[in-house]
Amino acid sequence: MKKKPEIVVAENAGFCFGVRRAVDMAEKALEKNGDKKVFCWGELIHNPRVVEDFKKRGMRIVDSIEKVEDDSMFIVRSHGIPQDKLKKITDPQRNIKIIDTTCPFVEKAQKSAIDFQEKGFQVVIFGDPEHVEVIGINSCVNYCGIVSDGELSEKDQKILSESSKIGILSQTTRKKEEFENFAKKVKTLNEKVEVRNTICMETSRKQGEVRKMINPGDILFVVGGKNSSNTGKLAEIGRKIGAFTYHIENSQEIKKDWLKNCKGKIVITAGASTPDVSIENTRQKILNLIS
Ligand code: F3S
Repeated sequence: MKKKPEIVVAENAGFCFGVRRAVDMAEKALEKNGDKKVFCWGELIHNPRVVEDFKKRGMRIVDSIEKVEDDSMFIVRSHGIPQDKLKKITDPQRNIKIIDTTCPFVEKAQKSAIDFQEKGFQVVIFGDPEHVEVIGINSCVNYCGIVSDGELSEKDQKILSESSKIGILSQTTRKKEEFENFAKKVKTLNEKVEVRNTICMETSRKQGEVRKMINPGDILFVVGGKNSSNTGKLAEIGRKIGAFTYHIENSQEIKKDWLKNCKGKIVITAGASTPDVSIENTRQKILNLIS
């Protein structure tokens, strides 16, 4: 009889410190809002299940800051918010209470950018130019930072080679090696570079754990929102190592067929916005399918 594969759940799977904090603060806001409406610009965290639950409990998710009403409560997400957007709702006359759940690691990156700019550095942010965290960091320096996902346009290269000094920082969820490679690239243009590693430890811990746990031929389940960048990165690591990698949002997506090729163990990890219940449901579903 074929031996059943071992199922291992990564120790650091699921909610990171920043998301746990944001969820707790939002829960308290919803409990203590009295008759005030509670608004959030975009989804509080990248997890459809958690977001749906918050909506049922009264959270109003708006796609534009203009839709936030006066005399309400407004939740700033853990990614932070661009400063110009925030200014639109902080006029005291509008009486909007701000619940700021910006993760302290994101705040550290914002402060580094401000500090670099105040000291006369050309700020460079390594990250996804479209990501709200990156836009938020750049907003702290009046959008004067150069944002790059790795590539540098000719115009940016010219600015960097002519800058008197350059300060580089990273989006919190990026991979350390990629950040280091990017910093090396900038250093070929200009030697006067200061690098601040603003990558969140939770992310590197999770990623390092996956690298250690999986081998080629293992099966890796990464549970989390398809739009979550840190979850996507975990799946990317799995694929690079050669594990059969499945990025799922919930256990219902799992197909029995996926489990038949397993040559090693089955590892479950989850992005920073994934609640414990989704991890446990995944484990249970796999158990049912292999028994
Ligand atoms: Fe903060 Fe890191 Fe989580 S930046 S929100 S603790 S992934």
